[in-house]
Amino acid sequence: MLDSIINEVDKALKTLTVSSLSERPRPDRNLNNPQTLTSQEKEEHAKYMRVNHSGEICAQALYRGQLFFNNNKKIEEQLEIAANEELDHLSWCQSRIKELNGTTSRLNPLLYLGSFTIGSIASIIDEKYNLGFLSETEKQVSSHLENHLSKIASKDKKTIAIIKQMKKDEEKHELSAKSMGAKELPYFIQKIMKSTSKLMTSSTFRI
Ligand SMILES: [Fe+2]
Ligand SMILES: [Fe+2]
Repeated sequence: MLDSIINEVDKALKTLTVSSLSERPRPDRNLNNPQTLTSQEKEEHAKYMRVNHSGEICAQALYRGQLFFNNNKKIEEQLEIAANEELDHLSWCQSRIKELNGTTSRLNPLLYLGSFTIGSIASIIDEKYNLGFLSETEKQVSSHLENHLSKIASKDKKTIAIIKQMKKDEEKHELSAKSMGAKELPYFIQKIMKSTSKLMTSSTFRI
């Protein structure tokens, strides 16, 4: 048990402090922005990517929390695959923020801790609700990525390509959770999750 705890703390610190490397190449690698972005556009796009980066920090923590108490081998494999894809997202967001001269959120350690706890609790309560929670999270992330796509200036082809690929992956994660038997969460829990995610996105946009 102590070994697993040390391993988790190590993973958390690495996620929060080390620039992660992606397994897949960045989706915008062959694209150039034909027009340069204004400094205001850069600043704004960096903020949207900061929100997405924090979302990926939450996703990592959520998956790690769920894996920590999970005993089902089949679910474990799927969670590991999705968690690795989320690591790509984390790395893509991080490097794009840097290119746009932005910074990541100072709230990330707090968000990691909160999401890890939620993932652990969901995993302990019930396997099917755990998957339901995951599927709902992925659904909500996809919809906020869609919302960001409508706000990013169309000339920023690079940021758009990254967000589009992330959205595709999140939709796949949602389907995979459903195919493993995710139960639909009660409406009031979906509501609470929506309000929490709103709070997360509005605070990380600023801090
Ligand atoms: Fe993601
Ligand atoms: Fe995802």
